Amino acid sequence: MRRSSEPLIAETQIQAAVTRLAAEISERYRNCDTLVMVVVLKGGTIFASDLMRRISLPLAVEYIRAKSYDGIDSLGDVLLPVLPEQPLRGKSVLVIEDILDTGRTTSAIMKTLNEHDPASLELCVLLDKPSRRVVPVDAQYIGITIEDRFVVGYGLDHDERYRNLPEIYTLEEE
Ligand code: IMP
Ligand code: MG
Repeated sequence: MRRSSEPLIAETQIQAAVTRLAAEISERYRNCDTLVMVVVLKGGTIFASDLMRRISLPLAVEYIRAKSYDGIDSLGDVLLPVLPEQPLRGKSVLVIEDILDTGRTTSAIMKTLNEHDPASLELCVLLDKPSRRVVPVDAQYIGITIEDRFVVGYGLDHDERYRNLPEIYTLEEE
């Protein structure tokens, strides 16, 4: 498999979506002094680093990592090997994800973070593939909605490759 020669989503289109999301988030959290961005490793890091630099509010950054057990496809089988270091109780928590696909890992992440008793818990995703959803998940901030295609670039990988590309490509047969 390799990436398409032409991008599916150009860098300018990605950056426009990031700017719009940053404005929406800035408006929503304008009077909030306890905002904690929880970035989902590894794919969310590129998006989050662009996004947070366009949000001029006080905020803290934490990371979470979710891994599914290989070959097992149920919600109960998501491992969270990295968790936020600071207590989230009473904080306004915003989760930053690269892509919402089946909803399985994201739903496990939201459920776990909710158990930490935050004052609020919202989700921001750069990409959404609604046609793939298996578990219902509400994302309050969505960058770009796409069809059911496997995409790489701008944080998204295939076997750990392509995360560093500034645009988003589809994956194709060689
Ligand atoms: P979900 O639990 O199925 O929604 O999975 C979300 C995770 O699957 C994302 O954080 C990505 O790591 C991965 N993923 C889903 N779709 C794609 C894709 O098209 N390209 C790269 N990674 C993807
Ligand atoms: Mg991945």
